[in-house]
This record gives sequence, C-alpha cells and structure tokens, in this order.
Amino acid sequence: MAELELDQLVNVVLRRVADRLGQTPDRSRDEWQPALLVAGNWKMNAPGGGAGEALVEFASHLALAPQTGVDTLVFPPATLISSVRSALAGAGASTEVGSQDLHWEPSGAHTGEVSADLVLAAGATWTLVGHSERRAAGETHDQVKAKLHRAVASGLSAVLCVGEGLDDRTNGSTFRVLRVQVQTALAGLALRGVTPGRMAIAYEPVWAIGTGRVAEPAQIDEACAFIRTVAGEEFGAAWASRLRVLYGGSVTEESAADILAIDQVGGLLVGGASLSPKRFAAIVEAGAARAQNLSAQGGGS
Ligand code: PGA
Repeated sequence: MAELELDQLVNVVLRRVADRLGQTPDRSRDEWQPALLVAGNWKMNAPGGGAGEALVEFASHLALAPQTGVDTLVFPPATLISSVRSALAGAGASTEVGSQDLHWEPSGAHTGEVSADLVLAAGATWTLVGHSERRAAGETHDQVKAKLHRAVASGLSAVLCVGEGLDDRTNGSTFRVLRVQVQTALAGLALRGVTPGRMAIAYEPVWAIGTGRVAEPAQIDEACAFIRTVAGEEFGAAWASRLRVLYGGSVTEESAADILAIDQVGGLLVGGASLSPKRFAAIVEAGAARAQNLSAQGGGS
C-alpha cells in the first residue's frame, strides 16, 4: 500500500515536471487513452419502475448496442445498484454502475445517507458528485470537495458535475462560477494520484437540465475547454488533455451525435432519455459512431 502510494506520487511529480518542461509525459506508466464516456443518470426513477423484468430489458438493449470506443455507465437510485449490476452482468453488458451521491464520512450517524464503502459493496464502481439538483438542495462547494476526495480515496471513480444557472449565464458570470466549482472540488486531488480515466467532469448548465433546451455548440465547446484548463491547474496540462469532459442537459438520441461532434466533448451525461432502453442504446450507438470517426482521424477527443 505504502509502495503504491509512493509510486503514484512519483508519477504525479514526473507529470508535473514534464508539463513544466513542455514535454510529453512518459505514458508507459499509464497506458490509458480516453474512450468516450456515455452515462445515464436515472435520478429518483428507474425504467419500468425498477421491476426486475424492466431492468433485464434495459440490460439486454445495452448489451446489443455497439460499444467499441465507448465506456458506458448508469447511475440508478442507490436501492437498485445491486440488481442493475446483476441484470447488466446477466446480459453480458460491460456497462458499469454508479451511485448518484455519497457521504463524505466513511460511516457514522448520518440517517438516510450512503457511504462510499456501502455503494462499493453493492457493486458501484463510480459515483456522481455535486449534481446541480443536490447543490440546489443545499450542498456546498466544500461538501462537494469532501465527497469527491472521499470517493477517490475509497477507490470509486467519480463524475464531478458543474454548471452555471440561468442568472449566471445572463449576467456574465458563467466562467467565474465554473472556476469556483471546479477549483474548489479538485483542490489537493492531484496528490492522491488519481488517473484521468477514474474521473470525469460533467458540464451541465442548470438551465439546460430537464428543460428540453440544449446549450449551443459554441457555449458547450468553450465551457468544456475552460473546465479542462482549470483542471489542468491542479493536475497539469497533460493529465487534463486526457480528462473526459462530458456534456449534460436535455441530451436525446436526436441531439447526441451533434453534441459528441464538439471538439472538447468527451462524452455525455444523460438524464430523462437514459430511462428508456431504446433511447439510451441509441445514444450509446451515437457514441460508438463518434469513437469510430475519431479513431479514423487518428486521434482522441
Ligand atoms: P436531463 O438531465 O438529460 O434530463 O436534462 C441531465 C442530468 O441532470 O444529468
């Protein structure tokens, strides 16, 4: 364990030095290259209400969708993590399962909360952190940071959600808001040696979530580029260049391909449309088509 931590620390220092010198870091220590990430956030819903047959149907649709070059992930309500995971495994789908939230403490008197260890034991490998619906319910920047650090320390991969509200967008504070959200949550995380494959940041403008209103391609591109730059201030530019920055907010099977074609977008976080097995599978297929396109161009996102 101590040796592993030392190795991770050396890795971080080497990357930092390489970044400073403007050189490409040695990738032999970390072969991971970015695949697109398509994730479904079921919120307080589940396909068919979460009945066993509905989960099996969902899993079989996903198993049939071409997934080359795409990592797929679903965030069911916590009570369904284990059965969704079994249904996916039963259907032969490689889709991973995540928790929609976690507490920053490892255990204790926190009625109604779930810990990292509990969701890991249920079969989750990922967690969402800082979704705008949780921030709207009172979650602070510091709590989001504590949750993200707890997730990483416990071995969960994490999707950090950030995004400006409509007022921020109209009064010109979008980038100030994004900077505070990203910078606060990531502060000190580089020292934990997290690899870019174990984290993603979802850009979800609050005004686009559940409204049917998708942000403009130029808005998505510049916000995702900005998020990547701020992440690079913590992790170094080379790390940040491999970070998957996702877009979320009213993504559908009709809009998925166009959003995935945006330069800075490394995947999607889908709410409403992820509840239908057919619609979500179609979005995953759009991801596979984009991945094929990128590999034909000979590059990552
Ligand atoms: P939506 O939700 O796709 O229904 O807008 C996205 C999200 O909240 O992650």
